[in-house]
Amino acid sequence: MKVLVATEKPFAAAAVDGIKKEIEGAGNELVLLEKYTDVQDLLNAVKDADALIVRSDKVNAAVLDAAENLRIVVRAGAGYDNIDIEYAKKKNVVVENTPGQNSNAVAELVFGLLVFACRSFYSGKTGNELKGKKIGILAYGNVGRNVARIAKGFGMELYAYDAFCPKEAIEKDGVVAVDSQDKLFTDCDIVSLHIPATPQTVKSINKELVGKMKKNAIIINTARKEVIDEAGLLEIMKVRTDLKYITDIKPDADAEFQTFEGRYYSTPKKMGAQTAEANINAGIAAAVQINAYFKDGCTKFQVNK
Ligand code: 3PG
Repeated sequence: MKVLVATEKPFAAAAVDGIKKEIEGAGNELVLLEKYTDVQDLLNAVKDADALIVRSDKVNAAVLDAAENLRIVVRAGAGYDNIDIEYAKKKNVVVENTPGQNSNAVAELVFGLLVFACRSFYSGKTGNELKGKKIGILAYGNVGRNVARIAKGFGMELYAYDAFCPKEAIEKDGVVAVDSQDKLFTDCDIVSLHIPATPQTVKSINKELVGKMKKNAIIINTARKEVIDEAGLLEIMKVRTDLKYITDIKPDADAEFQTFEGRYYSTPKKMGAQTAEANINAGIAAAVQINAYFKDGCTKFQVNK
């Protein structure tokens, strides 16, 4: 079977080596398409692929139509909003993700960015400490749990809200499970976003919600830019000159956010999962899942059942 790895943002070299070893070790063939800038390159490369490994690369109807032999796509990572899963289902293409494999990398970046923001972006100006502050974790999945683990080390007070996770599962980790998203925003000094981009969450972080936050509050986004109502956030940050927005996903309105000097920061390119460890974990997991699918028909991680 021909397995194409198509990554506009490439994996670390060690991850590619690991993927190659897994795929070829199972008697399959590996083809690499890295750092492509033209979608036509992807359309050409996918033509005779039986399996596809991607990161945030868009796998839309055009890609799925071009891929005549395709049977499985694995998103090496958590969020699969870059893949048209319904169209894939219509075409009998299995779509999987690799949950949990890059979550520590994202959670560590949350704290890298938080310390940077709390210390006035290393400008030399007096900053604040994380110890004793209330952190609100919005969605208690794999990343949220790692954020909680690290926040304990900083001596923070932990709160979380997750519409789908039972309260007991949150509280057994020593985290206060609040009853609503509103309460998380009202009560916490910092809110860290870990919700996926779904029809329910898109633009859900809006003016009204952010306006409820405490004085000097910080929102940190290592999830998806789509969950932010950018117009609403810009509006409230103009009025509430104490609020900070820190993100790993550059907003469409980056230039306007840049005018909030000392209150806004975006990484130049999404880098939450950009560690060798995360690439190795997620990349090899993707290869193992593809081998298992071809060998035994295993679809344990399928997201378009
Ligand atoms: C994910 O959904 O797993 C993360 O957002 C990582 O995305 P990336 O592979 O584009 O870095």
